[in-house]
Amino acid sequence: MKLWKGRFTKSANKSTDEFGASITFDKRLYKEDITGSLAHAKMLAKQGIISQEEAESICSALLEIMDDIEAGKVEFDIASEDIHMNIETLLTEKIGDAGKRLHTARSRNDQVALDFKLYVKGEIEEIDGLLANLIDTLHDLAEKNQKTVMPGYTHLQRAQPVTLAYHLMAYHQMFSRDRSRFADCLARADECPLGAGALAGTSYNTDRQFTAGELGFARVTVNGMDSVSDRDFALEFLSCVSIAMMHLSRFCEELILWSSKEFSFIEMDDAYATGSSIMPQKKNPDMAELIRGKTGRVYGDMMSLFTIMKGLPLAYNKDMQEDKPPVFDASDTLKDSLSVFTEMISTMQVKTGNMADAAKYGYMNATDCADYLVGKGLPFRECHEIIGRLVLHCIEKGCAIEDLSIDELKEFSDRFEEDIYEKISVEACIDAKVSEGGTSFARVAEQLEKTK
Ligand code: ARG
Repeated sequence: MKLWKGRFTKSANKSTDEFGASITFDKRLYKEDITGSLAHAKMLAKQGIISQEEAESICSALLEIMDDIEAGKVEFDIASEDIHMNIETLLTEKIGDAGKRLHTARSRNDQVALDFKLYVKGEIEEIDGLLANLIDTLHDLAEKNQKTVMPGYTHLQRAQPVTLAYHLMAYHQMFSRDRSRFADCLARADECPLGAGALAGTSYNTDRQFTAGELGFARVTVNGMDSVSDRDFALEFLSCVSIAMMHLSRFCEELILWSSKEFSFIEMDDAYATGSSIMPQKKNPDMAELIRGKTGRVYGDMMSLFTIMKGLPLAYNKDMQEDKPPVFDASDTLKDSLSVFTEMISTMQVKTGNMADAAKYGYMNATDCADYLVGKGLPFRECHEIIGRLVLHCIEKGCAIEDLSIDELKEFSDRFEEDIYEKISVEACIDAKVSEGGTSFARVAEQLEKTK
């Protein structure tokens, strides 16, 4: 039913109805919409704008409608355009005139801003729980792998040995920042737009503080025109979602590499891998690849809302109806990805032996060799040069630095002594990185303790 039909002499074309409707996707906001209306009705009665009896009949009918929707008993109507008018129509069908009073001192513009904000706030809470879960899982995994040594990379070339715990704790930091980013987003979104009306405020004696309090907002928005025009909270949310997806995607990229025969650092549990329809030997890390792929889709969602908003004059424009699908899609995608990812890493098998083997080759102790000579009194630049020549010699010979005899080493510098061998073992190289935040066993234990 068209709640705005009064001014029109013709009814809308069927394709106008279908094209203009958002009910197909904004029906997801039924709970937020009803919650907002309950608070609004209570406020109207408290302020004497509608009677107490009217408010009571509105509220009990709204709760029935909520039950009916949840029981799958409600068929939404395209002609009623969106979730707001669908629910208002159902309400009026149930209780008649009292239902028609609900929309006093309110517009769909502040209503939709409210519903959408309530939705984003709820999503942030859910995502925070999933991130907390992932962070715990990473912490557990790191605790178990404090002695698991592996190559650390730069440019995807073996650089310096680290522990798996150290590598995992890097992601722990990234996902912890995601939590704090979402918390910041929530803190800024925590302003209630209800009561702004269409754009100018309303002429009724409303109590916006009351509705904001009822709905669990920290504050009310300051400017009515901003309240109905603002989608910053959704853009910020999409930015936070995109960054979290980017973190998952980088991790997935590593897990994909690590599952290859070339690395063989991990093996995904069968439950998180798939086979090939033609090559019987294959075990593909599909779930990790999909998360990496879905990250692109989420970036698209973010770009889509940025692009929708960029040219809009104040205040509400119908373009803004297009804000919801990308936010729904991005949030669903992140939540699913976080769940799958957390299960995937808690069930994967870590091949510690292969990681340790890889850490032995690649001259990753070259920096430590140079540091050794610095310890014997040479300037670092000179040591860098000496070890460079030494590595070249080893590459030609096809051996590791520690495979050379002390006499061979002395040909490069007379400062080399027997203690060099213990100083450049993988474990010694790792344990020497004692600077705060470094990969030494004690420093990683400290990071684990700090982030418990
Ligand atoms: N379905 C609309 C949306 O999602 C609700 C707001 C409509 N307001 C208006 N003045 N047409 O944005």
